This record gives sequence, structure tokens and C-alpha cells, in this order.
Amino acid sequence: MPIYLDNAASAPMDERVLEAMMPYFTNKFGNPSSIHNYGRETRAAIDKARKTIADILNTSPSEIFFTSGGTEADNLAIFSCIHTYELSHVITSPLEHHAVLHTAEELQEDYLDFELSKVEVDAQGALNMECLEALLANNPISLVSLMHGNNEIGNLNDIERIAALCKENEAYFHSDTVQTMGHYRFDLQKLPIHYLSASAHKFHGPKGVGFLYVNAEAALRPMLYGGPQERNMRGGTENVPGIVGMAKAFELAYGNLDQDKTHIVGLKERMIAQLRSRIPNITFNGLSGELDKSLYTVLNINLPPGDEYEMLLFNLDIEGIAASAGSACTSGTQIGSHVLEAIGTNPDSGYLRFSFSRMNTVEEIDKAVEVLEKVLKR
Ligand SMILES: Cc1ncc(COP(=O)(O)O)c(C=O)c1O
Repeated sequence: MPIYLDNAASAPMDERVLEAMMPYFTNKFGNPSSIHNYGRETRAAIDKARKTIADILNTSPSEIFFTSGGTEADNLAIFSCIHTYELSHVITSPLEHHAVLHTAEELQEDYLDFELSKVEVDAQGALNMECLEALLANNPISLVSLMHGNNEIGNLNDIERIAALCKENEAYFHSDTVQTMGHYRFDLQKLPIHYLSASAHKFHGPKGVGFLYVNAEAALRPMLYGGPQERNMRGGTENVPGIVGMAKAFELAYGNLDQDKTHIVGLKERMIAQLRSRIPNITFNGLSGELDKSLYTVLNINLPPGDEYEMLLFNLDIEGIAASAGSACTSGTQIGSHVLEAIGTNPDSGYLRFSFSRMNTVEEIDKAVEVLEKVLKR
């Protein structure tokens, strides 16, 4: 049986999610905007899904907007905030997902007086909070877009502290929570944040669906014009099976969060210990080796510089282990990982990201380490 350790890229869909979605692919096919019974049935399903998600986040359904995934949610938050408030400054970091970085870069290209500032990070990818404070203090009102958990090196940012700083400086705060939604608890009555992005396939839901949380005080304006869907904020017939599946996946994720977390933390600890004892000179990138400072779902490993890594991922795949790899961008190219480059890793080192889910087992971890050791010895 192949072993899937690439859950940060996409987590397998839970069978119970598919079961919840099935009727909306078959007999419950009405357009939610239709007034007949078929339409009312799917409209009710969307309303229920929105309420399920809002209740778990301790917020109001009116603050949840469905999107096609994390990328759209990030784009929507950034464009809405910048355009509505006519801001000319975004503060982000070099470690953000391209859904944030490329969106901010696009704004910089479109507007002559637009400024993009990046908070400094250290060699482990930790944000320099003094730098963020200075950027907030020395600029006009800004949008701050800083992620909660990094998808490559797993670093967790202190979003409570960032939110408090933004509030003090009257800045708007968006956080890409694509890697943490469904894995960490959020109480949106307590967290002063304007926008949060989420994507269902990162918590065992379907692909192509996500949501944006928009605080009632924050602006939203559409990117897609058309019908009145999503309270006039996103034209287009809703992805009903996807939305239903996402809400089911969300419910399942939070219904068993503590037990699942304990299980996954155990897998990560075991992998760290085994890798340390069996693979010489192995280190961990970013803060991913530190359990309290990183996503419990992500481990990014660093193998000493060498020229044998080109085929590493391919060889693991042949042996039935699915992981992901990257290396620092070699100078002047876009090939490689902008995150590993930003923290100054050596392009000649070997990099692998293993990412875990509740569906992985201890046996799979043991097997993956055994296979990695074998592949590296070859
Ligand atoms: C941190 C982060 N943001 C955004 C995205 C994009 O999400 P989606 O694939 O749903 O567009 C991803 C997906 O890899 C991600 O990890």
C-alpha cells in the first residue's frame, strides 16, 4: 500500500464527506436561486453549511462567504480591502503563499504609488516583530497579510499578537489560515481580525471550495460579477455539493480535534526521533522540528549538501512514499521554493516535506523512515 505523507498539499477526502455530498450530485440538483422545492432544498443546504461553519468559529453566518478555495479567498480579501479603503500599502512576509504574494505584487504593478513591505524573517523563518511594529508605525494605514501556519516549513505565527498590533495601529489584518483552519480552534468573538481564508481540501473536504471570513466591520467587494449569490458578493451558481462537503469536513475536524491532534503530534514526534537516530546530520527547516512553534501536521527535513538529491522524491515515489520536495531557488530563477530561499537555505541541500493527517498510522511513519534511509544509502 502506498503511503501518503503529503497532506499539506491536499488531504484525502473523508468517506463521510462524500456521503454527505452525494445527494447534491444526484437527486438534490436544484439551483439554489430557484423558488421551487428543488431550489429551496439546495438553498437550505447552503444556509445550513454556512451556519455550521459560523457556529464552530463562534461568529455569525453573515460573515462567511463561500469561494472556490484558499487562493480566491486570499485574492478577495486583499483586493476588497485595498480597493474599498483606497490603501496604498500592504505589509506581508517573504514566506507567504503565492496566493498572497502574487496578489500583492499585482497591486504594486497596477498602481504607481503602491508600496509592498515585507517583514524580515530570521534563518528559521520567525517573523521579526520589531520590524512589523516599525512598518506599522512608519506608514499610512496598511493592510497586513500574514499567514497563521506556513505550508512549507510549518512555522506558526502568533496571530493574536499580530492582530493586537494591527488594532493598535488601525491597520487591517488578513490571515491566510489555509493550513490551520480545521486543525486549530478559532474564537472569532475574541480574535480581532478582519479577514481569514480557508480551503476545504486541507481538512479532508473536497477540492475547489473554501471560504473567506469577513468581519462585519470590514469591507468586501466582489471580484466576480453576475447574479446575486453570496449576498451580491460573488456571482455564479453555488457549488452546492462542495459547500455541503466542506461543512461536513469542518464538523468532523472539530468534532474530534483533540484526539486527532494527539495522534498526529505522536506521529510527528516519532518521525523526528527516528530520523534523528537513523539519518546522519539531518536537521529540520524553519521551526518545523519544534513542536510548540510549528504546525503539528508538517515536518520539513534538511539533508546535508550533496548532488544525489535530484531523484530523491522520484525514488521515494517508486518505493510508494508520497511526500513533497523543494529547494531554495537557484539565483535568478523562479524554480524552487521562495520560502526556503527567503530563510537562506543552501540550494545544494536535500529538502523533503512530510505532512501528516489523522488518517496516517505509526506503521506508515516507521516504513517511510526505513525507505528514506534505504534510498539515501543507495
Ligand atoms: C497557505 C496556503 N494558502 C493558500 C493555498 C491555496 O489554496 P487552494 O489550493 O484552495 O487555492 C494553499 C494551498 O496549498 C496554502 O497552503
